[in-house]
Amino acid sequence: MEKRYLFVCLGNICRSPAAHGIMEKMLKNRGLSGRAVVDSAGTYGGHAGEHPDPRMRAAAAARGYELNHRSRQFRSGDFERFDHILVMDDSNYDRVCRLAPDPQAVQKVERMTDYCERFDTDHVPDPYYEGRDGFEYVLDILEDAVGNLIDRTIG
Ligand code: 4NP
Repeated sequence: MEKRYLFVCLGNICRSPAAHGIMEKMLKNRGLSGRAVVDSAGTYGGHAGEHPDPRMRAAAAARGYELNHRSRQFRSGDFERFDHILVMDDSNYDRVCRLAPDPQAVQKVERMTDYCERFDTDHVPDPYYEGRDGFEYVLDILEDAVGNLIDRTIG
């Protein structure tokens, strides 16, 4: 059975599409692409239809990740469609949980940083108003978390 993963941030143009692209590439590298469905969304719909931020696309491309997702807003129906909903920060967590149809659905929501082993942080910082280092730091955290997410939930 394939597992279904949804990564969520605010705009769905920086952090969550990066997690999405990293997950797809790592699954492919490990021969596990058929085992998972991956998507991403934002709690804010103002960037719907847009490609990821060019700064994130460039930083990700330099590490071999192609980000071609189009931004979309998170919706309550996503609780039915996904097994794991991985959020980047506390604000994402609160907004997503408010849309949960029942208490069981809330159990699907996890913080991305709970999967970190190399980084000791409780959130993936929003890089939107940061310089280049902010995007590199986000990618460092996400590579750590996604690798462990695959190890712990797919194997
Ligand atoms: P993301 O970054 O949540 O990682 O996609 C942001 C993108 C856009 C905005 C904020 C954060 N914004 O305010 O438009």
